[in-house]
Amino acid sequence: MEKSSRETFFITTPIYYVNDVPHIGHAYTTIIADALSRFKKLTGKEVFFLTGTDEHGQKIEKSAAEKGLKPLELADRMVGRFKDLWNELNIEYDYFIRTTQPFHEKGVQKIFQTLKDKGDIYKGIYEGYYCVSDENFLAEDVPLEDDGHKVCPDCGKKAGKVSEECYFFKLSAYQEDLLEFYEKNPEFVRPQSRMNEITSFVRQGLRDLSITRTTVQWAIPVADDPEHTIYVWFDALHNYLTGIGYDWNEDLYAKFWPPTVHLIGKDILRFHAVFWPAFLMAAGFPLPKTVFGHGWWLKDKTKMSKSKGNVLDPHIILKTFGTDPLRYFLLREIPIGLDGNFSHEGFVHRVNSDLANDLGNLLQRTLTMISNYFGGTIEHMDEENPQDVALRTDMNSVKEIVFNHYENYAINRALEEVWVYLNSVNKYLAANEPWKLAKNETQTNRLARVLYQAAAAIRAIAYLIYPVLPDSAKKIWEYLGEPNPLTEETYKDLAFNNFKLGRKIQKPEPLFPRIGLKDFLEEKETESKKAVKEEKMDIISFQEFKRMDLRVGEILNAERVEGTDKLLKINVDIGSEQRQMVAGIAETYAPEDLIGKKLIVIVNLQPAVIRGVESQAMLLAAEMDGKAYIPFFVEDLPAGAKVL
Ligand code: MSP
Repeated sequence: MEKSSRETFFITTPIYYVNDVPHIGHAYTTIIADALSRFKKLTGKEVFFLTGTDEHGQKIEKSAAEKGLKPLELADRMVGRFKDLWNELNIEYDYFIRTTQPFHEKGVQKIFQTLKDKGDIYKGIYEGYYCVSDENFLAEDVPLEDDGHKVCPDCGKKAGKVSEECYFFKLSAYQEDLLEFYEKNPEFVRPQSRMNEITSFVRQGLRDLSITRTTVQWAIPVADDPEHTIYVWFDALHNYLTGIGYDWNEDLYAKFWPPTVHLIGKDILRFHAVFWPAFLMAAGFPLPKTVFGHGWWLKDKTKMSKSKGNVLDPHIILKTFGTDPLRYFLLREIPIGLDGNFSHEGFVHRVNSDLANDLGNLLQRTLTMISNYFGGTIEHMDEENPQDVALRTDMNSVKEIVFNHYENYAINRALEEVWVYLNSVNKYLAANEPWKLAKNETQTNRLARVLYQAAAAIRAIAYLIYPVLPDSAKKIWEYLGEPNPLTEETYKDLAFNNFKLGRKIQKPEPLFPRIGLKDFLEEKETESKKAVKEEKMDIISFQEFKRMDLRVGEILNAERVEGTDKLLKINVDIGSEQRQMVAGIAETYAPEDLIGKKLIVIVNLQPAVIRGVESQAMLLAAEMDGKAYIPFFVEDLPAGAKVL
């Protein structure tokens, strides 16, 4: 198969567990991947951006059981939540892989078989401790607690004892090959500090790895020994191969394999930098170029966790600020390799100061002046003076630096540089005082030059921020009448003279309205209460649903409840007996029209007294424009028939 004529860039995110809804940490990895993909596309690379969900294993099995769902039902729901969030965050992924897709399962089984046939997998007995939350076998030296369990050193949860027959992968046999590979490929693990961590871990000696279970049902079975199911990490890591076409789309696979970068959180580095290359070496695949381990977003300086109630829901921020400010904050605030502490104060400050003040005001002021003083179009202007030349030529060096930072995964540095330049444009305007020039007719051509310089700078800035702030950049180009914004050619050349005279420039709407911290915190408060409520409403188990006794009821008679406009007192036959109920349907139905009608009634609801009348059942109705409408049966069902 032929390689692409253009250089390829294959980037992946981890595939996310579907035990719960996505949070800011998942959003972080995916936004980084999106920004890098967009940058690479604009620099002419052929990009493939793979993301998806990790759907097998004990963690999902357990979580689904707690919710009264089948694992696949839970996965289906969560996949929807992840895809919705990626949509809201403007993530342009190329493929979303689910590990429950048949081609993935088949691919994993095939590779497992290859390793087994080759003698890299053998049968034995595993005795040790397993952390379900991390889906991880604990190292032997983790101390035993008094009550006979071990505590997972990574997540702090209890790890239970496992003693079962399993297949082992001969990881120990790859120790030397791995060390040699790290030595020859110093870029394999980034940042550098993490590479040191990994090499010293491998040097300490590798033990063979258990890669099957006999007690986990929700997993891919070993093809020729289905009592054994494949360990979820062996399954999950291979998504990077199956997701790019291995064993089902040879062209795609040939074009993009091996990955340019696996972007992951630092907590799952060992899986990606030790186990994964060893599996690939064993099966004979070329190895990925880089595994980049990013830092964690903390809340109140600690790890976010459901039990602490400090998990950040990206929707609240998205609702208040929109997509670009969240993307900007996460990527600007910290270097990708380090941890960051999320604070609402820090967020509001960063967004107001960088986006609303620096960028928003520059755009607003410049374009409004071009509209007001030149009717939106600059036709001619003065020659450049040295200050103008400096602003123009500075852009060339800024561009170089910013591109380099993006290339080096230093997105925060790239943005920092853009802002240094952006503020020099603000200073240029302050020094040239176009609002004063506008008062003097002899200065019209100088005024035109100053505003042209600022607009040309804004156009170039929009290119530099596009990977992180794609929607805002697009809006800026629209205001500036940029003819072909997203081509490789335009991106290569951000020169001022590409900003041609005679363009029609629009007066912009404010791009980033300022947000008050108080409003934000209040919004956060109401939204999180709503989220908790929604979550409670969201999932009920089938068992819970079954507890409702729903029956066909036949209305025997109905009359208004005295002193009310809305309520009717209804007697209904539910087969075994008659019940009296009060329903708010008097504005929709006349009592006499209801006699003999059949409807759905819940008969085991706790009775209530409404306006002095006891209601011993409740009918089902839908609401529209404040009125209630009853779904009646058209068929002649017997009263008392169970509704399933
Ligand atoms: N399913 C595995 C990955 C398999 S990849 C073959 C997994 N899933 S996860 O949903 O638990 O985590 C996915 C990623 O989210 C990890 O890279 C993890 O580091 C990242 N984050 C989870 N919480 C995070 C923060 N609070 N901050 C930043 N990233 C964090 O692990």
